[in-house]
Amino acid sequence: MLNYLRFYEDRGLLIARAEAQYVWDAEGNKYLDFHTGHGVAFLGHRNPRIVEALKRQLDEVMTATPSFRVRVRDEMLSALEKVIPGGLDHVALLNSGSEAVELALKIARKATGRRKLVSFTNSFHGRTMGALSVTGSQKYKRGFEPLVPGVEVIPFNDVESLKVIDGETAAVIVELVQGEGGVIPADLEFAKALRERVDEVGALLVIDEVQTGFGRTGRVWAFQHYNIKPDVLVAGKAIGGGFPVSLVAVGGDVASKLDVGDHGSTYGGNPLACAAVKASVEVLIEDNVVSKAETAGAMLRDKLESRLRDSRIVRGVRGLGLMLGVELRVLPTGVIKCSQARRLLVLKAGSTVVRLLPPYMITVDDIEWGVEALARCIDEEASGRAPGKTG
Ligand SMILES: Cc1ncc(COP(=O)(O)O)c(C=O)c1O
Repeated sequence: MLNYLRFYEDRGLLIARAEAQYVWDAEGNKYLDFHTGHGVAFLGHRNPRIVEALKRQLDEVMTATPSFRVRVRDEMLSALEKVIPGGLDHVALLNSGSEAVELALKIARKATGRRKLVSFTNSFHGRTMGALSVTGSQKYKRGFEPLVPGVEVIPFNDVESLKVIDGETAAVIVELVQGEGGVIPADLEFAKALRERVDEVGALLVIDEVQTGFGRTGRVWAFQHYNIKPDVLVAGKAIGGGFPVSLVAVGGDVASKLDVGDHGSTYGGNPLACAAVKASVEVLIEDNVVSKAETAGAMLRDKLESRLRDSRIVRGVRGLGLMLGVELRVLPTGVIKCSQARRLLVLKAGSTVVRLLPPYMITVDDIEWGVEALARCIDEEASGRAPGKTG
C-alpha cells in the first residue's frame, strides 16, 4: 500500500459522511463541525444546491480550458457580479488559495513594473514558493529558502511601519483578519492608513480573503468592515462550497496591463468550478448567508465570552462573524483533542489559539452545545495543570 505524504497531523478520525454542519465517523457517531476543512465548508457540507449544480454540469461539459467558451463560465460571471465590488470587473478562477496569491503577485509586478512586495508579520498566504515568500510566519518558510527575492515583511497593525511601502513597491498583501496566524483582526485605523499609504505611492493593495471572504466574517468581504477596497481581491475556500476553486479579481486599469500568455492554469476556471461558484453565489444571496453568519457569529462570541470569562487559562475571545479564536494561556492541542472526543471539531491557529470556523447554518442549539463541549474541555485542561505550568 502506498503512503500518503504526511504533511498534516492525523486527527484519528475517518469522515464517512458529511451534511450541512455535521460529519459522521465510520461508526455513525455525529460530530458538530466547527473546522469545516479549514473553513472551506462555510456553506455547509454538500450543500444540496451546489451538489445538484455539479451533477448537472458533469452531465453537460466536464472539462474545457478558458480558450473555449462554455455557457456555465458566462453564467458564473453574471452570478459573481452580484457579490464582487464595483470596479473589480475582471476575474480569473484558479484551483487553490495559494495559486490565486501567486497570480496576484505576478499581476502586481506586471501591472506596476515594480518588484518590491510587502507583507505582514504573522500572515499566511499559502505554501507555493511565491505565496510562501510573502507569508510572514517564519515557521512555514524554514528549510525552503531562498524564496522569491524582493519581499519585505513589516509588523502587522503598526501604522509607523507603513513607511516601508514606497515608490518601489509593486504590492502590499494583507489578510484583514489573520487566520492561521491566530485570528487577529486588523485595527480600523491601521487598515485605513494602509489603504492611504498604498494609494500615495501608487502600489496595489492585494487583500487576501481566502479565509475571510464570502460571508465568513458577517460581511461578504472582510474589507467591508473597514470601508476600504482592494485593487486585487484574492478569494478561495468558501467560494466553491467545497469544490476546489479560487479567484482573483482586478479592475480594468490593472487588467489592461496584462496580456495573453502572462498566466495560465490547465484546470483554472473549468466548467465544474464555474458551476460550483455560480451555485455558491446563489446560495449566498438567496439564503441570506451573510446576515445569518453575522447573527450566529455574534451569538457564538457572546456565549463563548460569558462561559469562558472566569477560566484561568483563557486570555480572551476575538474575531469577526463566524471566524473566531479563543486564545489560551497554554498550547491548544489538548483542548482540540478533547473537543473531538466530545464530538466537536475545531482547529488551531497561531500557537495558543483554538479557532472556530463553523458553517453559516449553525443553530442556537448547535451554538449552545458547541460552547459547552469546548468549555468543558477548557475546564479539564485548566484543572489538569499545575499552576506553574501555565504561561
Ligand atoms: C489567508 C489565506 N491565504 C491563502 C491560503 C492558501 O490557500 P490554499 O491552502 O487553498 O492554497 C490560505 C489557506 O489557509 C489562507 O488562509
